[in-house]
Amino acid sequence: MNFFDLYRQKNQLSEKLFKRSKGVMPGGISHNVHYFPPYPFFLKEAKGSKIRDVDGNEYIDLWMGHYTHILGHHPEIIVEAIEQQLKEGIHWGILFEKQVEWAELIQKLIPSAEMVRFCCSGTEATMYAVRLARGFTGKKTILKIAGGWHGANPDLAMGVKLPYDREESLGLPPELIQYTKTIPFNDITGSLETIHQNREDLAAIILEPVVGEGGFAPASKEYLDMLRSETERLSALLIYDEVISGFRVALGGAQERFGIIPDLTTLGKIVGGGFPVGALVGKKEILETTSPERKVKKWEKILIGGGTFSSHPFTAAAGLAMLGYLKDYEEEVYPFLETKGEEIRRGLQEVFDREGLNAVVTGIGSLFQTHFPFQGEVTLNSPHSINQLTDTEKREVEFRIRMLNHGVHVMHGGGSLSMAHSDEDIERIIRAAREVAKEMKMKEEN
Ligand SMILES: Cc1ncc(COP(=O)(O)O)c(C=O)c1O
Repeated sequence: MNFFDLYRQKNQLSEKLFKRSKGVMPGGISHNVHYFPPYPFFLKEAKGSKIRDVDGNEYIDLWMGHYTHILGHHPEIIVEAIEQQLKEGIHWGILFEKQVEWAELIQKLIPSAEMVRFCCSGTEATMYAVRLARGFTGKKTILKIAGGWHGANPDLAMGVKLPYDREESLGLPPELIQYTKTIPFNDITGSLETIHQNREDLAAIILEPVVGEGGFAPASKEYLDMLRSETERLSALLIYDEVISGFRVALGGAQERFGIIPDLTTLGKIVGGGFPVGALVGKKEILETTSPERKVKKWEKILIGGGTFSSHPFTAAAGLAMLGYLKDYEEEVYPFLETKGEEIRRGLQEVFDREGLNAVVTGIGSLFQTHFPFQGEVTLNSPHSINQLTDTEKREVEFRIRMLNHGVHVMHGGGSLSMAHSDEDIERIIRAAREVAKEMKMKEEN
């Protein structure tokens, strides 16, 4: 049976729900990444490494709530923190001690976090990072990675898709690309050229040190060194977007792992323990310019924040519990995730090679993706290499649906492992990939 038909057969209640969903939400979804053809399945419950949908299908999950659930779905420590918070109150819009404790913990764990400002999403955090960089430096131009995704933030909603030279959406001013430009990830010569062209007005360079759209490829040390020294030389800021990599590739994020410290960092996902979150952290000298106590004229203020739900008590409680756990169990968590990540990348690559399917597994730590090159051997170490050299449609549709049919929920051909992924889960994922590789190879040959 065709893989789409098999999926449809196994997901009949989801199909009905999706029809209803489309009647009320455009495209049936509230985040474009939640859509895939023929229609997404609807979730019923999740625990540990497993999710169960409304049709009763169980999957090993690798999406893990957009890479949030580093301890697995529904961890006990978060449930307890929320139960306790529920007794204390839901939402106040007034300062409370847990918020300070949570910020202090971030200050302790993230090397660049001399000060912390909370918001509700990673999108908001990157928006404030850009605004603060412009306000602080008095300059306008922002350089971002070609293919880098920083949320729907209008300042950075350009250059995400090939050919990386336009806005992501109608409704964004075309002037945007006058002040936001792209540089090629891990390409020192190419990036230097653009940096020099913009040297007079450069406010900041923003990048993920481990790029989500780039197969979780890490930046090379030489590349980060170059960005650090060029931004210093030009009195511009270096911003790391660690919404995915923060507390994941190391407790102190990619900046701790690679040892090159930015001026500002954006955080999200894990930092909120599974609740809506964003945080902008960085050097005191820079963050302090946003303080309402600063004695400047009204029009010289830098406004970051607002947000009825910024530092919501549930998020603070869950975030505090999560970071506390990661700090206390650092010696167990990160070596475990590192080993499991290596195992899965090696295991999958072996399966694809053995079955003769041209596929490349990339990633770092607990993060991985699978790519399908159009032809031959390729080096995949950036969003542009992946988007130019591989069939992303095959990854997003065919590989995803076939893996679902074998009980594994992948995103971008992979995803993230958590403390809840057992050896048996890893074996099952690799076994499923072997079956899928066989099917895809057979289709290629027919
Ligand atoms: C690197 C990066 N930055 C920013 C964002 C935006 O975060 P949010 O979805 O919380 O707005 C994302 C979202 O996935 C992301 O991956």
